[in-house]
Amino acid sequence: MPSTRLVALASSLAVVLGSVAGCIFIDNPGVSGASTSTGSGGSGGAMQDGGINDAGDDGAGGGMMLPPLCLKYGGYSTVEKVVGDLVGALVADCRISPFFTSLTPAKQQHLGDCLTKQVAVLMHCPGIKYDTDSTGGECRDMKASHKGLGVRAADFDALIEDVVATLTKDGVAKEDIAAMAPALLFLKDDIVTNSAPGSAKQICDAGAGDAGDGG
Ligand code: HEM
Repeated sequence: MPSTRLVALASSLAVVLGSVAGCIFIDNPGVSGASTSTGSGGSGGAMQDGGINDAGDDGAGGGMMLPPLCLKYGGYSTVEKVVGDLVGALVADCRISPFFTSLTPAKQQHLGDCLTKQVAVLMHCPGIKYDTDSTGGECRDMKASHKGLGVRAADFDALIEDVVATLTKDGVAKEDIAAMAPALLFLKDDIVTNSAPGSAKQICDAGAGDAGDGG
């Protein structure tokens, strides 16, 4: 089953990349916010990169010059489409959907707008900054925007699986997903605020048994 493969890919990415979380590479030190490279920095307002520094795709710190992932896959409009698909996947994922379906339409819009800019920065779309949503509202850093949500590690892992599945469905190559993954996994410490096991708000109760909800 394709989804099984995606889950396996996401899991292996998480394991491999999680094991190097303490030494994540950041190869564009000139970018605003790069000084927060030690892990959980950036709690003071919006950052130009949303805590994301680099997808390692354009050789900024290495020898080869490759086109930014953004341009490779069709530019900012592709990022908008992918993030739209991702939001659809999150809302449809019974492991974490209540986090998103409980938001007001305005908050959903804000999340989609800011996530689009964040992914665009990650994929090096020219001229894009993680700054404001479409109404001028500030895109907050990861600590501030996830504070009080009670996100657990299993919730985070579920979202990463959805990211990998969506990118794959939308035609992003496995190696490019692998290049982006560390920057996302790096945000885990800022986003996961509840160390309880299982999922926080899972609603997958169609006989699967182990719901792991527990509030
Ligand atoms: C690498 C993983 C993640 C990234 C890059 C990410 C990114 C974002 C961004 C850009 C925002 C909007 C920032 C703002 O409010 O200004 C946001 C908000 C939000 N995120 Fe995440 N997120 C991640 C993981 C998660 C997870 C695992 C959950 C829950 C399962 C989650 C739930 C939410 C919710 C509910 C909001 C809206 C909060 C509010 O407006 O009250 N996020 N996220």
